[in-house]
Amino acid sequence: MTATLITGIGELTTNDDELGRLHDAAVVIEGERVVWVGPAARAAPTDARVDVGGRAALPGWVDSHTHLVFAGDRTAEFEARMAGQAYSAGGIAHTVDATRAAADADLTATVRGLVREAVSQGTTYLETKTGYGLTVDDEARCARIAAKYVEEVTFLGAHIVPPGADAEDYLDLVAGPMLAAVAPMVRWVDVFCEKGAFDAAQSERVLRAAAERGLGLRVHGNQLCEGPGVELAVRLGAASVDHCTYLSDNDVDALAGSWDGDGGSDGTVATLLPACDLSTRQPLAPARRLLDAGAVVALASNANPGSSYTTSMAFCVATAVLQQGLSVDEAVWAATRGGAKALRADAGDGAVGVIRPGARADLHVLDAPSVTHLAYRPGVPLTCAVWRNGAREY
Ligand code: NIG
Repeated sequence: MTATLITGIGELTTNDDELGRLHDAAVVIEGERVVWVGPAARAAPTDARVDVGGRAALPGWVDSHTHLVFAGDRTAEFEARMAGQAYSAGGIAHTVDATRAAADADLTATVRGLVREAVSQGTTYLETKTGYGLTVDDEARCARIAAKYVEEVTFLGAHIVPPGADAEDYLDLVAGPMLAAVAPMVRWVDVFCEKGAFDAAQSERVLRAAAERGLGLRVHGNQLCEGPGVELAVRLGAASVDHCTYLSDNDVDALAGSWDGDGGSDGTVATLLPACDLSTRQPLAPARRLLDAGAVVALASNANPGSSYTTSMAFCVATAVLQQGLSVDEAVWAATRGGAKALRADAGDGAVGVIRPGARADLHVLDAPSVTHLAYRPGVPLTCAVWRNGAREY
C-alpha cells in the first residue's frame, strides 16, 4: 500500500483533544487511513510526498443532512419566497411529482453531480435522504441510487403525506412495506415532525418501527415553529434532531441534558442548517444558546431543491461565525466532528471529522494560511486540495 506524506501544512486543525491545532505540520496517509500526524520536521520519508506550501488543512466537511435524490426545479418557488411568500412544506409535493416521473439515469446524474460539487468544496463524508419518492418502489430506488454515492443513507418516507393519500393509511405503508423494502439499504430513519407534516404520535410510530428493525433514528423538528420534535428525538435516543430553528428553554435543556448520561453513550446532536434558515427567511437557529447550555451542535448544508439549494459547507460555517455568534473553531468543529457525531461516525477505526492515526483519510487543504479565512473571506472559494477516504479527489 502506498503511503503519502502531506507536508508543509502551515496550520492543521485536527479536532483531536490531544493533538489540538498544530503548526508546520505533516500528515501521512496510507490506503484509507491516516497513519501519522505531527510536526513536519519529524516526518519520516514515504513513497509519495505532497507539499501544500504553508496552507491550512482541516478534516473534510461532514455534511450530515442533505436531500440529493430529486428531480425538477423550484426556482419560481424561491422567487416567490424572496417576494414575501412564506415557505411551507407544500413545495415538497412538486419535487415528489418530478422525482417519480424521472428516469433512474437522471436521478443518478443529479446525485453524482451534487456529490462531485460538494467534494470539490471540501466535503468528504455525506449523508443523504430519500423522501421525494413516497411510494414503496420510488423510495427503494432513491435509496439504491443514493447508496452508490454517499456514505450514509436515511429513509424519509415520512416526509409529507402524499397529496390525495389518507394520513393513517400512508403511515401504515411507511412503517410497514416501505420500511421493509428500504431497510437493507439504509442505516437511518427520519421523520418530518412539524405542523403540516407529521404530529408527535405519528412520528413516534414510524421511529419505533425503525428502532425495532435496529435502524438509527433522526428527526426533522422545530423548523417552522416550536413543536414536539426535539422532545421526541431526545426521548427516543435519536442521534440528531435537525433544523432546531425555534427552541423553547425546555428544548435547549433537553438537548444539553441528553449528553449527561453516565454510560458514556451519545446524546442527541442539534444539527443546524443555516443556509436553509436564510433561504426560507426564518430566523437563524440559536447556535450560541445551544453551545452555552452544553448541547452538541452540528452544521450541515441541507442541500435540497426547495429550502436550501446549496452544497456549500463553507457558507454554513461563515454564516455561523458572522451571524450566529460561533467562533471559527466552534463552527469548523460543528461542520466536521459535530456532523460525525450526528452520524455516530466519530469514534474508533475510520472515524471521520478528526485527523489522528486510525481516522479515515479525509483531508481538506485551503488556499489560505488559516481556517479563520473561511469567515474572514466569506464567499471566496478556498478549497485547494481534497483527499476523500485516502484518494485525491480534488
Ligand atoms: O429539510 N423540512 C423538510 N424537508 C426539507 C425540505 C424539503 C423541500 O422543501 O423540498 C428540509 O428543509
